Amino acid sequence: MAKTKTAFFCQNCGAQSPKWLGRCNVCGEWNTFVEEVVQREAKTGTVQTLFNRRPIHPIKISDISYNHEARIIISDQELNRVLGGGLVPGSVTLIGGEPGIGKSTLMLQVALRCKNLKVMYISGEESEQQIRMRAERLGALNENCFILTETNTQAIVQHLEKLNPDIIIADSIQTLQTDLIESSAGSVSQIRECAAEMQKYSKITNTPVFLIGHITKDGSLAGPKILEHMVDTVLQFEGDRNYGYRILRSLKNRFGSTSELGIYEMNDTGLREVSNPSEILLSHRDEQVSGTAIAAMMEGQRPMLIETQALVSSAVYGTPQRSTTGFEVRRLNMLLAVLEKRSGFRLANKDVFLNIAGGIRVEDPAIDLAVVTAVLSSNQDSPVGSKNCFAAEIGLSGEIRPINHIEQRISEADKLGFEAIFLSKYNTKGLDLKRFSIRIIPVGKIEEVYQKLFG
Ligand code: TYD
Ligand code: MG
Repeated sequence: MAKTKTAFFCQNCGAQSPKWLGRCNVCGEWNTFVEEVVQREAKTGTVQTLFNRRPIHPIKISDISYNHEARIIISDQELNRVLGGGLVPGSVTLIGGEPGIGKSTLMLQVALRCKNLKVMYISGEESEQQIRMRAERLGALNENCFILTETNTQAIVQHLEKLNPDIIIADSIQTLQTDLIESSAGSVSQIRECAAEMQKYSKITNTPVFLIGHITKDGSLAGPKILEHMVDTVLQFEGDRNYGYRILRSLKNRFGSTSELGIYEMNDTGLREVSNPSEILLSHRDEQVSGTAIAAMMEGQRPMLIETQALVSSAVYGTPQRSTTGFEVRRLNMLLAVLEKRSGFRLANKDVFLNIAGGIRVEDPAIDLAVVTAVLSSNQDSPVGSKNCFAAEIGLSGEIRPINHIEQRISEADKLGFEAIFLSKYNTKGLDLKRFSIRIIPVGKIEEVYQKLFG
């Protein structure tokens, strides 16, 4: 029986050493040595022995059998959408997100709601009782959901072989640990090796696997970058913990588009799927207030209407403050400079605060016009009118620029009962205006918008 051998390799130049070194004596880089398995122990019960049982031969591509309908449709429509139309058998999906954002909740919810599927939920973070308590809160119990609080991958594989589940969830990849490597759980080499074992199991048995991953301070997935290369799909669960909304974004997907996203609302019985995002992102107010404007924006392939709120007031201190939530402050500064220089509005000695409702972070440039309108409305102290919405980018010379997916944005605004949408006059080409009952107002300059709203 061959024994497992490990060695340390420099991640920069590939130099090998039997012991860990602080500084590579070949390339001179610091802290680049990582432990890797050189030779595996052929012990029963490891993925390796499973692997060895199925020798692999070259096969003609036309002879490979496959199934169109192979995707497993899970009960969570938002997750199905983000995965590109269901779960692909034999795929490995990595879900990352900040602590407390709801990764475990999301996955347990999937496990509990897939009633006709056998699910193995491996948890290295919580005890069986804790998971049961959470399941009670989520209000669904699946007889076919098994909880395994084991972190050793060799032991896990033995349980998996016995139970043969349809879906595997590992919470989290950082807590798993393999006998093959000596370093402690959560280290780069452990993470890589454990992920490789789970992936091998997944491919051999054609079972879909979800791996939950921690993220580091700077927001990237903890562990080696290679983890993201190994898996088929990388999803990111994000949102502001103080707000109820969560967004599930696809960063990589071998089986679908990465522009899809899923929206959830966290409430006391778990995560609720939000199929109509605009419904929660607009504060349904009857009275008219100044400083708010609605933007018709896109998140991935989904149009949604979102409220931007601005507050403009005279600066108390020498330097005016500019602060934003959900919007890049540099972009706000640019828009304010455009207003000042190109359109002659005096804002240089005003404090400007900007807030995107719902804790959503917006990167779509089409929100520019709504931001500018909200700022002008607050500065003017006259309301924009809650039945108007905006979709256009603003250029450095103050021109109102066209944006993509304009028809989708217009129809979404139309569907939600808005009466008018302001957009760039260059965006109306080829548009069948009669299709919509909403009034379309093409504009070319900020002054025109100002005239039409407050003039
Ligand atoms: P959790 O899934 O443990 O986060 P992660 O695994 O990403 O670290 O989510 C924990 C948070 O979710 C916690 O702050 C409480 C909240 N929560 C609810 O609001 N409602 C619920 O029904 C559940 C189960 C959790
Ligand atoms: Mg968790």
